[in-house]
Formats: sequence, structure tokens, C-alpha cells
Amino acid sequence: MTSTLVTNIGQLVTNDPTHDGTKLGIVTNAALLIEDGVVAWVGPNSDAPTHHIKKTIDAHGRCVIPGYVDSHSHLIFAGDRSAEFRARMQGVSYTAGGISHTVEQTRHAPDAQLLAHAQSLLAEAHASGTTTIECKSGYGLTVEDERRSLEIASKITEETTFLGAHVYPVEYKDSPKDYVELVCGEMLDAVLPHSKWIDVFCDKGAFSVSDARTILKAGMAKGLLPRLHANQLEAGQGVQLGVELGCASVDHVSHLSEKDIEALSTSKTVATFLPGAEFSTRSPYPDVRPLLEASITVALASDCNPGSSYTTNMPFVMAVAVREMHFSPEQALWSATMGGAKALLREDVGHLVEGAAADFQILSAHSYLHLAYRPGVNLVEQVWRNGLQLI
Ligand code: NIG
Ligand code: FE
Repeated sequence: MTSTLVTNIGQLVTNDPTHDGTKLGIVTNAALLIEDGVVAWVGPNSDAPTHHIKKTIDAHGRCVIPGYVDSHSHLIFAGDRSAEFRARMQGVSYTAGGISHTVEQTRHAPDAQLLAHAQSLLAEAHASGTTTIECKSGYGLTVEDERRSLEIASKITEETTFLGAHVYPVEYKDSPKDYVELVCGEMLDAVLPHSKWIDVFCDKGAFSVSDARTILKAGMAKGLLPRLHANQLEAGQGVQLGVELGCASVDHVSHLSEKDIEALSTSKTVATFLPGAEFSTRSPYPDVRPLLEASITVALASDCNPGSSYTTNMPFVMAVAVREMHFSPEQALWSATMGGAKALLREDVGHLVEGAAADFQILSAHSYLHLAYRPGVNLVEQVWRNGLQLI
């Protein structure tokens, strides 16, 4: 058995309310014991076990928080769309149309190039404190390109999502029904061995609610778990479809009606905000307050992709959520950790409780408040995943 004790933690965020009655479950002057990759004990530094400790890490009074659980990213692609970003910053509005440029480049990229690029984005994510990341396909849009995208995704994470229904590829522009049939049939069968989730981009310029329903149901019938891109570009029935089908999460949710909030509040579906997309498309930010008032579970994720949000940085996402979307710093941190875990139906990550994965970060700050208070500053001192130090 390998035991590591982290001592002298000034502020430990556990996300276990039993410690202090708050969602962040803060223990001050704490210690954390890790055995064989999982959390074995959490408590006051003065009560820390002393026997059989192989290694001790002194946190020097700093803050320790769970690793971020980034429940929404698109890391399998080639090329970038920086020219599109520049145009947007000069007033051009974002549409789903740009996705086809990435599809073109991704189809021409060899597997090794796609894998190396995804690994470099993963390393970036780790360096900013992310320890769990979901990854979608969606820039292949042929049977073979979606299959290999998911095979590559499965080399970097277990949270793999089939997004063959990202947009209609150009070659199916005039026969969209045939593409839906392909996604639900041959393409779905090809990606199954490498996929856990199924997702659809249900929005203006992408898939209708009725096609999204057909596609999600086809995936669910083959054992994939549903999640959905909904209400990013306009209001619509996407969120309600997500609730109807029991999606683990509906993502973006930038345009929410009272009916959407009502539907979410009576469901287990998580609402995942992706502020990086509003930032990079110069779109109005949604307001989290009506969701929190309705006791809806809210997650924050990066949406890392080359078009609408080319960042892997969860502290950036949290800072924007606090500044622009009325998250409290506490809610932002909870949403980026526990909220993400709930959006992925994971009980083993997002919190530091006995038996959970030892996925945590030591910050170079004494308080988690510095994450939003010091935007753009790298406050990661160490990152541990399954009890092993990554950074
Ligand atoms: O989640 N909204 C759909 N898909 C991505 C954007 C993809 C792109 O522009 O390349 C998103 O924002
Ligand atoms: Fe997305």
C-alpha cells in the first residue's frame, strides 16, 4: 500500500457539506491522506494519522481543492480558426458554419497528428488543474473519421462522446435525412466500442429538435448515455428535449425561458454553462441566478474547441462566470468540480471524501477566492490525479 499524507493545508475544499454545512465543505488547518490512489482520510491537521505514512507533502498553509471536472470539450481536430476569431472580434457574428473548415482539415489529418494534438491539449488542461475531461468527436462526420476520432479520444479519457450530429457535412447538404440515417445506423455502430455518451448540436444551423430526438434515442437504444448541446444560439425546445430524454446534462443553455427553467427544476438534468463560448463569440452572457433560485444543478466547463472557445483553462472559465454571470466564487468552484462530476454522472470525482479518487490541486494561494480574484494568473502549484503527481 502506498500512503501519502498532505499536511498543513490552510484551507481544504472537499465539497462535502458535512464538514461545515456549506456546499464547499471547507476544513481549515487540514490534512489529507491518500492510499492507493484514493482519499483515505480527511480531517484536522492535528488529528492526522502518523503510522505507515510513506511520503509527506507539506502544503505550507496553502489552499487545496479538488481537480476540475471539465464535462464538455472537443479536442479531436486539426487546424485552428484564428482568422474567424479575429473577424468576430471586429463584429462578425458566430454561426455553426465555421465547423466545416475544421471538418475539412480533420479529415486530412493522420491519426498520429490528431492524437498528439489532443494529448497536448490534455497536458494544457492538466497544467491548469483539470483532472477529468470529457471529449467529443464531431469534426470527422464520415463513418471512418468519426470512428477514428472516438478511438483517439478514448486514448486520452474514458468520458468519450459521439457527436456525429454536430452539423450536416457539406456532402449531405441536400439530403439531410440520409445523414440522420447514417448517424443512427452505420456510424453509430462503428463508434460504439469507443463511446460512452451521445450528443447532438441542437440549434440554429445544426440539428432540429425532432432530428436530435431521433439520434439521441438511437444512441440510447445501443447503450450510450445522452447529453445535449441546447439553446446556445437561440431559444428553442432543446432544453426541454434534454429533460424529456433524461440527459445527464444540457450544455450552453445561453437562452433559457421560464418553461426551460421549470423543466430543469423538476429533473435531474444538469445545466452546464460554457462561458468561454460567450467570451470568444462576443455573445451576451446568461445569468445563473434564476437557475440557482430554482435549485437546478449547474456545471461549468471549457467547451474547448477551435471555433467558439479555444481554451482548456477552467480558472479562466470560473473567473468569467463570477464576473459576468453572477456566480459567487463558491458556486463557480463547486460548478467546476462537483457540478462537472454530476454532469458526467460520476460519484468518484469532483469531491475529496473517503473513497473518492485522490484528484486534487495545491494552489499557490491561501484561499480559493484568489481563483477569480486573480484572473489570468496561474495559481496551480501541484496537480495530483489518482494519487499520482501530474504537475
Ligand atoms: O460547443 N456549438 C457547437 N459546437 C461547438 C463549436 C464548434 C465549432 O465552432 O467548431 C461548441 O461551441
Ligand atoms: Fe460544444
